Amino acid sequence: MSHTIIIFGASGDLTSRKLLPALWELHRKRRLPEGVRIVGFSRTPFTHDQWRTKLAESTAECAGQALDGSLWRSFARAIFYQQGDIEQADDFTVLRRTLDELEAGAETTRVYYLSTAPRFYEPAIAQLGAAGLVEPSCERCRVVIEKPFGTDQVSARGLNDAVHRVFREPQVYRIDHYLGKETVSNVLVLRLANTIFEPVWNRNYIDHVQITAAEALTVGRRASYYDSAGILRDMFQNHLLQLLTLAAMEAPSRFEADAVRDEKVKVLRAIRPMRSQDVPGRTLRGQYQGYRNEPGVGPDSPTATFGVVRLSIDNWRWQGVPFYLRSGKAMSCRTTQIVIQFRQPPHMMFDQGPRDLHEANRLVLQIQPAEGIQLHFQTKVPDAGMQLRQTELDFNFRRRFAGEMPEAYQRLLLDVLQGDASLFARADEVELAWGIIDPIQRAWDSGLPELAQYESGVWGPATSSEWMQHEGRQWFDLCPVLH
Ligand code: BG6
Repeated sequence: MSHTIIIFGASGDLTSRKLLPALWELHRKRRLPEGVRIVGFSRTPFTHDQWRTKLAESTAECAGQALDGSLWRSFARAIFYQQGDIEQADDFTVLRRTLDELEAGAETTRVYYLSTAPRFYEPAIAQLGAAGLVEPSCERCRVVIEKPFGTDQVSARGLNDAVHRVFREPQVYRIDHYLGKETVSNVLVLRLANTIFEPVWNRNYIDHVQITAAEALTVGRRASYYDSAGILRDMFQNHLLQLLTLAAMEAPSRFEADAVRDEKVKVLRAIRPMRSQDVPGRTLRGQYQGYRNEPGVGPDSPTATFGVVRLSIDNWRWQGVPFYLRSGKAMSCRTTQIVIQFRQPPHMMFDQGPRDLHEANRLVLQIQPAEGIQLHFQTKVPDAGMQLRQTELDFNFRRRFAGEMPEAYQRLLLDVLQGDASLFARADEVELAWGIIDPIQRAWDSGLPELAQYESGVWGPATSSEWMQHEGRQWFDLCPVLH
């Protein structure tokens, strides 16, 4: 069995910064299945060798060290390039011939990877269909589609329809790179491979959940994309809702793509839809000072670079437990974390015990960059009467396990080659997620709530902590310590 990965948009950034370095790492660790070849397709003219040389340079740069020469040569022998234009049907006929020659009749799994600008997704899929590059000639064909998958529910539905005219749903792999992070998979392992967490993982013990994805970086040179997307489309519709579903879903009986995704879809369906009049009270939006001076951003741009959304999940497990989602650019530090804030003990018999929710038990799942888990709890200060203090059990992946945390794309690419779609978004999941975000985005587009400004390097606008205090709670604002 051989495998061919055809990358559309091969001369782009994603290919050189993520896809090839991930495939190289898999090759280096001898994890790639036998007989993998990579075919780049894009408009820039390259010979096979020119493309190989360009990839050798970008891959070494990403790896931060020179590549092992003979290992790279064995990898590079399986890299090919075909110049082509997604809008030219003839180029797909040539591609078909090229693939047939390379595969020489061997049974092959083909992975069509769309790493192009999103406006090319539909034309590329239609051309693949028209050129006979998918079924019935290729039963083992798969398509990988990068984010953003649409810009709202209607466009996502339209894109799904276009995809389904050519591919069957089990052949479709919609990327959300957060799902390839080890710590994100570990949310389910923590909850469901241990006995002690699940019994308290509900409204009886949990006061609220905070999911934060903060970035210290500004928008920089991505402004032309970002200014029309904004924080809701860029981070909430995909990454933050994925984290929420993993934290909130019921246990599937098996770790299989559809069993897992069925449970995630149930959570999305249970999220209370936001009416336009609810948006000003349940969300916040902000923009960092200086955003409007970024190249490509207009002087009056209303695009939010920071947002908070409070969601409610209407089911037995979560009724009355708010899920606070928060994300922003130009924040204090880079950290993605899920904070499970437990309730106060029902009765406190120690005079100096916690009186404030912030002092109650808290489980912090550090998704990145200090990947780990902390459990905060009260303890007796030795030799100080009955004085109590909050302390923590601290688990850190890098300290506990040798080696680097792998890049998300390694896991995701390997899963595509092996035909495991558990860590990819299904059609209904993506559409439901847009259905949650759309009403918020509509209200924001109409100017509500007010767009608050914030200085770079803080935890968003000042209104954010005031708003949380008004909720009777406090943000857990802590930059992780990197060991
Ligand atoms: C991407 C967003 O999907 O995720 C970016 O488009 C964001 O704006 C990035 O910076 C964050 O990913 P990570 O893996 O660095 O948390």
